[in-house]
Amino acid sequence: MSGVQSVVNSIANYKVDLNFQRFVLKKIMRLPVAFYDKNKADELISRTTDDTTTMRSFLVQDLLAIPSNIYTLVGILATLFLNDWRLVILGLLMSALTFVVPIITARISFRWNDLMQGKLSGLTGYLAEGLQNIPLTKVFVQEAREIGKGLKVIKELYDTRVKYLFINSGLGVLSSAQEMVSLLLNVLGGVYLINAGYITLDMWIAFYMYASSLTGAIAALFPQLWVSIKGVQGSTRRISEIAAEPDETKGGSLDLRTQGGDIAFDHVSFSYADGPEVLQDLSFTIPQGKTTAIIGRSGEGKSTLYGLLERFYQPNNGQITVGGQDIDAYNMHTWRKAVGYVSQNTNLLSGTVRDNIVYGVDRDVGQEEIENVARLANAYDFIQELENGFDTEVGLNGSKLSGGQRQRICIARELLKDPALLLLDEATSSLDMEAEYQVTQALNRLREGRTTLMVSHRLRSVTDADQIVYLADHKVAGTGTHESLLKENVSYRNLIQAQLEDAV
Ligand SMILES: Nc1ncnc2c1ncn2[C@@H]1O[C@H](COP(=O)(O)OP(=O)(O)O)[C@@H](O)[C@H]1O
Ligand SMILES: [Mg+2]
Repeated sequence: MSGVQSVVNSIANYKVDLNFQRFVLKKIMRLPVAFYDKNKADELISRTTDDTTTMRSFLVQDLLAIPSNIYTLVGILATLFLNDWRLVILGLLMSALTFVVPIITARISFRWNDLMQGKLSGLTGYLAEGLQNIPLTKVFVQEAREIGKGLKVIKELYDTRVKYLFINSGLGVLSSAQEMVSLLLNVLGGVYLINAGYITLDMWIAFYMYASSLTGAIAALFPQLWVSIKGVQGSTRRISEIAAEPDETKGGSLDLRTQGGDIAFDHVSFSYADGPEVLQDLSFTIPQGKTTAIIGRSGEGKSTLYGLLERFYQPNNGQITVGGQDIDAYNMHTWRKAVGYVSQNTNLLSGTVRDNIVYGVDRDVGQEEIENVARLANAYDFIQELENGFDTEVGLNGSKLSGGQRQRICIARELLKDPALLLLDEATSSLDMEAEYQVTQALNRLREGRTTLMVSHRLRSVTDADQIVYLADHKVAGTGTHESLLKENVSYRNLIQAQLEDAV
């Protein structure tokens, strides 16, 4: 029977784990990007694993045991009472002892558990960062220093474990002592009651058998439950913080592809969390089907502005409208499907070249179409030269390809996605001249007929934009064509002058 019970119990454990992890996983995918500015990824990993496990064991082990412990408690107390009320007093006296030790040990246990968890996550953190930065470490010949750091972390973990072991054994002695005193009470109490003629010997033998079940039930119902509740509080708090965080908005029902129009910023201000305002009172229009260049020094908030257009963030003040409608009236899902984004940090996933090109397209895409976009993106030739063509694995983050190659695969992906609004964020800035030429040519094909926003520090590619929005001091410092801004805007003219001098 106990074999069957343990299987059923394990399955219950796994099922509760599964449900908790499902819940957390789905939730973290739905949270807004701003949430991830505040919370670190490795903490979230521990939430989906450690915290859900802690909560599960509380539910399945501690809470589920309550009914059967109450049953045991009431049953035994009733039986004892029917024999002699003095036995009830003796049983309760023995049980009172079970309150003493847990209250002493719980505090110490929590502190050390916390300490040990901290050391463990220190080790995980060290490994995660260290492995990522091995090339950097080698370039600066810092192996010895990194190993030293690692050894220290490992040694600290060992020391903490050993100390914890001794403390735990010490606490173990305490609870053994408690059992001894309990037994002593049992025997001495029994001797007294029999001698006084209140009970018979066989009644005491029965009491002796019942006593441990009684103290066990009381210990589980009160002190141990209290300890467990304390222990699970941290996990519950962290999980419920995620649960309470509102999901990303779904938006209205408009679709950018069919109901688009000019995009207008109307007195838009924005700041990250509680930082300073990165965008201040921006007002300008992005005409449909044209290319608008955003120009401004590094840190002016150009990428931030893209974040607003991708609806990763909400403006603090002001409104963004599209075709006269508030941006939130557009459905979030179809919006993101209609917005393309190419940045300097191109993101490829591990998988084949083909997987990466069709990523984000829900329909079946034929080979011909894939080759077609690859040609337009100037990617076809180099893909053909790869070991397995379109079926070549690109490695983690596309590490087996060069920067320019990755970029062109991203452009092919965007061509297939066929976005209505295209956001280019310094897409060519990390490339050499030849790659830049190839990518620029591909980008120009991608831009055709689309509403495009472009940030680039290469003058040539921005001067022929239909419109330029010039940002300075986090405000709009001028809008117009390159020529008109050059003529009318002193600050813009200085910026361009400085860049031209740099180029020479
Ligand atoms: N996720 C973020 N959280 C807090 N501050 C940020 C975040 N991203 C950017 N910033 C800050 O916002 C400012 C503008 O950044 P960004 O939009 O990337 O500038 P640009 O693209 O024009 O160089 C910078 O001061 C930067 O430090
Ligand atoms: Mg930027």
